[in-house]
Amino acid sequence: MRAIDIRNKYLNFFKEHNHHIIPSASLIPENDSSVLFTTAGMQPLIPYLLGEKHPEGKRLADYQKCVRTVDIDDVGDNRHLTFFEMLGNWSLGDYFKEEAIHMSFDFLTKELQIPIEKLSVTCFAGDKDAMQDVVSAECWKKAGIPENKIYYFGKENNWWIAGSEGPCGPDTEIFYDTGKPACGPNCNPACDCGKYVEIWNNVFMEFFKNSDGTYSKLKQKNVDTGLGLERMAMLLQGKKTPYETELFAPVMKKIKELAKIDNIQSTRIVAEHLRSSMMIIADGGRPSNIDRGYVLRRLIRRMTRHLKKLQIDLNEITNLVDIYVENLYEMYPELNQNKETIKNILIDEKNKFIKTLENGEREFKKAVEKVKKEGKNKIDGQTVFNLYETYGFPQEITLELANENGVELELDKFDELYKKHQEKSRLGSEQKFKGGLAEQNEQTTAYHTATHLLHQALRQVLGEHVRQNGSNITTERLRFDFTHPQKLTKEELKKVEDIVNEQIKRDLQVTCEEMSLEDAKASGAIGLFENKYGDKVKVYTIGDFSKEICGGPHVERTGKLGHFVIKKEESSSSGVRRIKAILEK
Ligand code: ALA
Repeated sequence: MRAIDIRNKYLNFFKEHNHHIIPSASLIPENDSSVLFTTAGMQPLIPYLLGEKHPEGKRLADYQKCVRTVDIDDVGDNRHLTFFEMLGNWSLGDYFKEEAIHMSFDFLTKELQIPIEKLSVTCFAGDKDAMQDVVSAECWKKAGIPENKIYYFGKENNWWIAGSEGPCGPDTEIFYDTGKPACGPNCNPACDCGKYVEIWNNVFMEFFKNSDGTYSKLKQKNVDTGLGLERMAMLLQGKKTPYETELFAPVMKKIKELAKIDNIQSTRIVAEHLRSSMMIIADGGRPSNIDRGYVLRRLIRRMTRHLKKLQIDLNEITNLVDIYVENLYEMYPELNQNKETIKNILIDEKNKFIKTLENGEREFKKAVEKVKKEGKNKIDGQTVFNLYETYGFPQEITLELANENGVELELDKFDELYKKHQEKSRLGSEQKFKGGLAEQNEQTTAYHTATHLLHQALRQVLGEHVRQNGSNITTERLRFDFTHPQKLTKEELKKVEDIVNEQIKRDLQVTCEEMSLEDAKASGAIGLFENKYGDKVKVYTIGDFSKEICGGPHVERTGKLGHFVIKKEESSSSGVRRIKAILEK
């Protein structure tokens, strides 16, 4: 069954069940500056989930274009996509668990004719915030799912929220058994081995998570569901990856024909990033150095680099666009309407990038040859820094090139040089801060602990892609660099500050344990894992809020820290942000 047929079947099914069909919202969120792209079907519907009356009624169904770039670096494997389509049915204070599950089951087994033996489901196990979802489990049993295929999991698997605050609730997820052998006696839908693939999520949205972490009941009980179209098409067509479905196949074929070398990963990256870029441009996105423009720029540049790697003439981009438009215009008419704009933007962006890339790659190759001749496999940080300084070569690309060439980068050295460079350029305004290694005293210790609180707060507000990229503490302030593709909004900064101050107010105890790196990872500790293999590491735990690998020292209780204030948020390097913050007594 083609993807478009699945979409049509879905919308017709819900129409027959008295749902009004609404169009997909734009990928560029309207009136919502807190997110870069529409990442889930629920996003454009948030006001209605909170109780506002929807003009089309209480039962809706739609297809929604979504972009999620958290896993951008994984694209090229057999499943990660940055653009995908989500089919959804919505109850805005109308039906709830019983009817939603009944309809999901009927759609899967009757309309799509998926054999019941292929299905397993998971339900929420219950905790202090919400009860175990025995109602959903009962509904599944009634529908015919055997008890041994109904699993219970906690919030980490069966609770849905977009971000850290807002409408949310327990969910029940439906999994498809691919027929792969189980990875062990405890193999279940929550494991990553590939036997089970999640196909549909039914969220029972009756809660609102407040910024202080507490939950309130919403005015109404909602249902929000999400069925990933590319994945469903792949499974129903018996394919192993979405790239083999008709959504990608013609473009994949063309890329393979044009390529002078065979590299499936690069072929997929080109196909995936091109589709995503086209969809974003069609909805009004334009490349730039900040925010969503930066994400688009990154997609186009990465695609360009992989086209070059495949030794494809870059002007072929326009032909690939034509193939996509021809193939997808029925599903996304906006691609056809914006075809020329899409081409112009892609070509223009490609031209801008190509100069940077060619010069930088040439220098990189020279450096690799040199180290290999010397029998080494590490490129010194000075070279990486020169690439950055002289050619404006993004560090993420240097990293990718290093991986491909089997060499390591001396990133500590790069960071050091980079920091010096940054310091030099702002010496004037920062004279009063002492640089270099901070002395250890009460004040720097407090800043160490505040840095952990900040790190965790950033992950809560921005997402788990946030990782420490550098930290520098003086007696006057902390400075923290972290991976995040765009500038933080005022609201995000305020949320981060509030979360940190809340943890200070809670006067949490700070404890330290020594353990192996493996145990530290298994315990969920975050922090820099590199170069620590085989070593014992110290894990600092701050109440129930943060757990991080760190050498210390730290204060005993967070109550000592004072009031946390973010003074500045700025770009540190490509894809890395920098925060400076102080503690006021
Ligand atoms: N909002 C839910 C999801 O994105 C359905 O999985």
